[in-house]
Amino acid sequence: MDLTRLILNNTAEPDKTRVNPSFIESKIKNDKKVYIETYGCQMNYSDTEIVLSVMDEFGYNETTDINDTDVILLNTCSIRENAEHKVYKRLDDLKKYKVRNPNLVIGILGCMAERLRDDLLNKRKIVDVIAGPDEYRKVPHLIDNTIETGEKGIAVKLSRVETYDDITPLRREGITAWISIMRGCDKFCTFCVVPFTRGRERSRSLTNIVNEARRLNEDGVKDIWLLGQNVNSYKFEDNDFSDLLREVAIAVPEMRIRYTTSHPYDLSMKLLETMAKYDNICNYIHLPVQSGSDRVLKSMNRLYTVEQYLNVMRKSRELMPDVGLSTDIISCFPGETEDDHKMTLDVISEVRYDGAYTFVYSPRENTKAYYLPDDIDQETKTRRLDEIITLQRKISVEINKELVGKTKKVLIESLSRKSDDFYMARTDCNKSVIIPVEPGHVSSAGELVIKQQYKIGDFVNAKINKANSATLFAEVI
Ligand code: 5AD
Ligand code: SF4
Repeated sequence: MDLTRLILNNTAEPDKTRVNPSFIESKIKNDKKVYIETYGCQMNYSDTEIVLSVMDEFGYNETTDINDTDVILLNTCSIRENAEHKVYKRLDDLKKYKVRNPNLVIGILGCMAERLRDDLLNKRKIVDVIAGPDEYRKVPHLIDNTIETGEKGIAVKLSRVETYDDITPLRREGITAWISIMRGCDKFCTFCVVPFTRGRERSRSLTNIVNEARRLNEDGVKDIWLLGQNVNSYKFEDNDFSDLLREVAIAVPEMRIRYTTSHPYDLSMKLLETMAKYDNICNYIHLPVQSGSDRVLKSMNRLYTVEQYLNVMRKSRELMPDVGLSTDIISCFPGETEDDHKMTLDVISEVRYDGAYTFVYSPRENTKAYYLPDDIDQETKTRRLDEIITLQRKISVEINKELVGKTKKVLIESLSRKSDDFYMARTDCNKSVIIPVEPGHVSSAGELVIKQQYKIGDFVNAKINKANSATLFAEVI
């Protein structure tokens, strides 16, 4: 099959002002179902809401029943090899649905679509549609075309301007919402595939983001996350990320505001001061350090030294004494010595993070680090990662145990994943707190005494009774 013929309009930037007449036609005639699974980071979950919104416009309604759908979409992640393996394995599982229903359309979205388009199209026969992160406006059109002609469809051009600024994401009900504020990354850390799969940095309009926050507030949302691959690079006209954060904080003073992810190189004093100034900006910073060795940081092209990073951490604690801090760490980057590894452990001990996301280095094709020898044996990789996790867990337990007996204001977000008898709430600095749903107790006379009623979306004061490395257990007072 001639693949070049299938590439739809891949040379033009998306035209947001004109609507393709065949799109309107397809909206009228479609009443189809789409099932979507999301893999990877929060940005992908936020993108799924954009895709669902675009699909909805053209008559595709979301279903959660994979056995009764016209379209299955996988929104994929390429950050590490095992993320891609997961999707390939899932594609094998999906064969049975295609056998049962040969008209079923299967599509791959996101970073894998961008990175592995040829492999997916040529070697995975069940994949019909492929759309990269900047091509989501075309997804319903690609699917309609596949249904009508049986031909495969692909759209993977990266854009310098696409931000989906005008699209209102189709969010699931809840009190937490994501607002994507910028897309792409220009940092080119030598291990990272994101600049290749998501393209150059671009930011949404400040006014539109603030208006979106206002609308969410009116809809009963209590907690918003401003999202981007590197939110500190946000730039719209003369406004930087601190300006945006301030404007959102002022516009929706009742809401909690958080953000992720930031790069230490761009994290300014102005941002820390803004966070400290507004009560509704949560005291929580996720700041990936990646390594505690200057030599490794240089080889990763991280653009800061350990001392500069530690200074940012010290400053944030100075300005926000009970700030919650977390990080990402890559263990066993090519050439990492035992001394480099110990320096990473030292940084963990020095900062005393509340939590850390830890990974063993995974070589990614096309990145600069891919061409460095992946020279650390498996046994060493397992041991070093284990040492990092063990140390961090010990620190997390110590920090959390210090909170026992204290009272914190928490926002009740949902029922707990493990039991409907408990709610999952969160502190300002991003700690999960489990509280009982039923605030009453049975008195000695055998009567149920209700102390106070509370529900999802309420802010309550919770007295912490117990803690482990990941969770606090509390009662409402
Ligand atoms: N190998 C391992 N971890 C990686 N990350 C990004 N690329 C790689 C890779 N090639 C981690 C970094 C980043 C987080 C989102 O994923 O720690 O901050
Ligand atoms: Fe990847 Fe580095 Fe950009 Fe983060 S800052 S997305 S790790 S290139």
